[in-house]
Amino acid sequence: MDDKKTAEPKNELNRRTFFAQLGLGSLSIAAAGTAAFSYQFLSPNVLYEPSPIINVGKPESYPLNSVTEDVNSAIYVIHSQEGLFSLSAVCTHLGCLTAWKPDLGIIACPCHGSKFRQDGTKIEGPAPKPLPWKRMWINDDGDLMVDRSTDIPPMQFVRV
Ligand code: FES
Repeated sequence: MDDKKTAEPKNELNRRTFFAQLGLGSLSIAAAGTAAFSYQFLSPNVLYEPSPIINVGKPESYPLNSVTEDVNSAIYVIHSQEGLFSLSAVCTHLGCLTAWKPDLGIIACPCHGSKFRQDGTKIEGPAPKPLPWKRMWINDDGDLMVDRSTDIPPMQFVRV
């Protein structure tokens, strides 16, 4: 009889411990889920884009009377008699990437046929504006830098 009395509380204690541990486990899972969602909610939802300022190398790498297209950066580096300058390679009509046509001496858009001179002015086509000039300068190391986010008035050359 005595043995039975001592066995029951031991059994009940095990059940209590089991449910307590089950409760703690459930709370832990809920807390972990809440922490994960809170972290996701509080972390900034930002798209990191590359810098608009790019180093296009030494001026000597652009021969006189050359037009060099940097497809990845969507710009032209042009070395004319007046000096160096940079143009956007993005068509002002609907944003297609233009291409330099050395045989014709023009910049042409493959999408709807807009054509531009080397200085960005429009020759023909549906483009509403000329290709914009981009800010260009020489840094302390003697490299040409282009700020793709800054348009400048035309005819501002970098002279070396
Ligand atoms: S996008 Fe260049 S002409 Fe239409």
